Amino acid sequence: MDTIYITGGRPLGGTLAVQGSKNAVLPILAATAAIPGRFALRNCPAIRDLDVTRALLEGLGLKTRFSQGLVTVDSRGPLGSAPDPAPAGKLRSSVLLLGALLARLGEADIPLPGGCVLGTRPLDIHLTALKTLGVQICPENCRLLCRGRPAGGTVILPYPSVGATENLMLAALGSAGPVRIIGAAREPEIRDLAAFLAACGARITGAGTPCLRIVPAPLHGAVHRILPDRMEAATWLCAAAAAGGTLTLTDLYPDQLRPVLEALRLAGCEITETDTSLTLQAGPLRGAGTVVTGPYPAFPTDAQATLMAALLRGSGVTLFQETVFSDRFRHIPALRAMGARIETAGDLARVRGVSALQGAEVTATDLRGAAAMVIAALAADGESKIHDAWHLDRGYSDFIQRLRSIGAEAHST
Ligand code: EPZ
Repeated sequence: MDTIYITGGRPLGGTLAVQGSKNAVLPILAATAAIPGRFALRNCPAIRDLDVTRALLEGLGLKTRFSQGLVTVDSRGPLGSAPDPAPAGKLRSSVLLLGALLARLGEADIPLPGGCVLGTRPLDIHLTALKTLGVQICPENCRLLCRGRPAGGTVILPYPSVGATENLMLAALGSAGPVRIIGAAREPEIRDLAAFLAACGARITGAGTPCLRIVPAPLHGAVHRILPDRMEAATWLCAAAAAGGTLTLTDLYPDQLRPVLEALRLAGCEITETDTSLTLQAGPLRGAGTVVTGPYPAFPTDAQATLMAALLRGSGVTLFQETVFSDRFRHIPALRAMGARIETAGDLARVRGVSALQGAEVTATDLRGAAAMVIAALAADGESKIHDAWHLDRGYSDFIQRLRSIGAEAHST
């Protein structure tokens, strides 16, 4: 998609089944490079980041297929150790091939990753931890030349980095002894990766807690259903809150979205839940108090922009504090162009509800920022144009079709 055209002012309604999680399927795909075997991954989202990751794996010698939500991988053949920098530079999760290739080959020649521009996104936590486990890492010409299978031992993460936790889990699959990760990330996607690895024979305990332990074991192929995407779910809920109407989501775990549901209820939405579905009934919106993003189970940074967009119209004030990324307010100028009242100071953004928003012509900045612009456009009077809408293709499958299926007046070029 290049440009999305949205005519706002129409309430949404209907039912959507939540897609498989982008942030679960990407590390699981990287993990297939660590283990010689055949894999079948169900409930995979049809998103660009998955296509790019498949291209990376095929460039290393793996065979992959994708059809109707099912990705199959055959990693039994010989493997290269140097991913192609072109696709690798398109997404952050390409760096997870570092851990996978160290486990499989004992070496890796990794291009520096890309991904959404959300401020500085160093790799120091990944690299320091791997060096602690005896891996030699030499940066050279925008690549990381890495040698040596990790030794067993304990690493302490100074921050519960999701990617660093995942990289260490994958590297530990080929370690000489048990690996303990203290201060690990606790996101549901970490638990889904651990569940996949356990299905492959890995001996992992503590997934979802700050202390993870991986004991080397013989590994094999597996079948796995990818976790539902809690961030896609949050996006649709915020869209319905902003536009008005009643939206039901199926195939998700509301428990994994607690802080988002709490904020939407505070803001005036009625939400009813079952274990695997929920229905949001939008109401007149008010402020949601203070929203502070943080590592799971805190309010997720990936829902900060979309919740902010949902709260632009209405009464009351919401104060956001973005503590995870150093520059994750890049969507705010576009929201202001639609009439939003947002003041920022450092990692704080204060949103004062306004009575009406007006459609505008804006340009997307990153995946969740693009979603925030769509949400604001749904609540605005008149037509909005959102350029660089390709950001959405990276993480949302069939975005326009699904948006129209719940009543939005939208099309794209
Ligand atoms: C994952 O990114 C997700 N991406 C992000 O989702 C998500 O926002 C993030 O986790 C936090 O939940 C995928 O899973 C593909 P981090 P990741 O390492 O692993 C700093 C989306 O929209 N840091 O937990 O890169 C880093 O700069 C994307 O779907 C270091 O300083 O996140 C950031 O400020 C966006 N050094 C913070 O930690 C390091 O070595 C959190 O990063 C690593 C990270």
